[in-house]
Amino acid sequence: MTAGLETAVTDQDAYDSKVKSLRGSAVVLPRISDLADPPAKLARKMAEISDADPNAPDPRNLFRVHWHNGAVRRSLVPVPEHIVLSQALTGVKAKIVVALGNRFPMINTHKVLSAYGCLIPRLMSGAFDATRHRAVWPEGMSKERFDWLTDPNDIYRTPGTESNVKEIYDACHDLAKNPENLILNQFGEYGNYIIHRAVTGPALQRIFDHLNADNTLKARAFVAATGSAGTLAAGDHLKETLGTQTGVIEALECPTLLYNGYGEHNIQGIGDKHVPLIHNVMGTDFVIGVSDASCDGLNLVFNTTAGRVYLSDHRGLSQAQIVRLGDLGLSSIANILGAIKYAKYNDLGADDVVLMVATDGADMYHTEMAIAQGKYFAQGFDQVQAAEAFGQHILGAGIDHTVELGRFERARIFNLAYYTWVEQQGISLEDFERRCDVSFWDGMIDQFNAA
Ligand SMILES: Cc1ncc(COP(=O)(O)O)c(C=O)c1O
Repeated sequence: MTAGLETAVTDQDAYDSKVKSLRGSAVVLPRISDLADPPAKLARKMAEISDADPNAPDPRNLFRVHWHNGAVRRSLVPVPEHIVLSQALTGVKAKIVVALGNRFPMINTHKVLSAYGCLIPRLMSGAFDATRHRAVWPEGMSKERFDWLTDPNDIYRTPGTESNVKEIYDACHDLAKNPENLILNQFGEYGNYIIHRAVTGPALQRIFDHLNADNTLKARAFVAATGSAGTLAAGDHLKETLGTQTGVIEALECPTLLYNGYGEHNIQGIGDKHVPLIHNVMGTDFVIGVSDASCDGLNLVFNTTAGRVYLSDHRGLSQAQIVRLGDLGLSSIANILGAIKYAKYNDLGADDVVLMVATDGADMYHTEMAIAQGKYFAQGFDQVQAAEAFGQHILGAGIDHTVELGRFERARIFNLAYYTWVEQQGISLEDFERRCDVSFWDGMIDQFNAA
């Protein structure tokens, strides 16, 4: 059975015991179809749970694992919270539209959606019994995100950064020898693909439809810096419904998709020196390289007093616009830079829209600011340095390291995944190769919709 595509109960005893324990603790699980359309399906439930602390590991927060939370994450909003970035900030005419992932409960990032997508098939099949199993989630994270895990026994550290994915997989193989551990490998779990295509895709579409009320806009692309490639699945939904292209962004310091390259970088959460199993490579249209130096530099521009004064006095951003920059974490800044490069490459105009998500906000990376300042601006960071960083990384963004994928480029990236998944991770050749056909991905979501 392919991970994440379980459709039947495989362990009836575990399933029964789990149902009993969930009932005993009054835990109710939302359907993915509820999370896909909260205004229609969850209005009453969201009102009922408004007293639940959005930061607590409270099971009622599962009903907030979607894009329709308001800023305080206790109420439901009809259109997902988003920012439309102005030309003063991006330097391009196209509208770059960002859906805000820090409205998700518990850890203020949309990664809880991937986690739920990976867990649900295992819960439903009985493979995961919370009374006996520990779920293991391979992930690289900033200090702030690790801090959320208060019990040190919940953390198993592997060497290097998160682009050392091979080391993470090796550790997972070791942990998997203990039958109490269930590895939820987000890079290979189709539940991660399905939940983003079913939930994130329609959420972005609702934002676009809201902005396009007078029918003058054209949705041109969805871009996403990719880690597990789960979020990218939203692009498959948008391609189907709005005719967008899909652009993958990766760190220039670890250009695996661009150049079969490798390396370390600081755009935390993305780029792992391999091609995830759940990446629909044949449905991908662009690969765009963005430097981590740009993301670190702009994190300073967006979140220091000097940077904000520069943006206000010299770029004309309003205070309201400036405050929203705090909603953008490092990978969100990478997405914005990728969207700018896409807009320049394709000569987009004012009626063109590039959609993206901000996986998390700047709060997750405050410790990174001092590190970046020491590394790039050891003499201090005032308005002059802010202007330099803005000029270099935003106004100066070009179309370098931007590859429009043709048949041969797609095949090259697709084939690169063979070495990880077939040679190292034991996926059968047949299961690997069927991913080459776009209908495999569409079929998966058709099957999900029919269930
Ligand atoms: C901060 C951050 N940004 C982007 C991503 C990439 O998202 P995905 O794994 O859906 O490709 C991740 C993944 O963990 C992340 O943590």
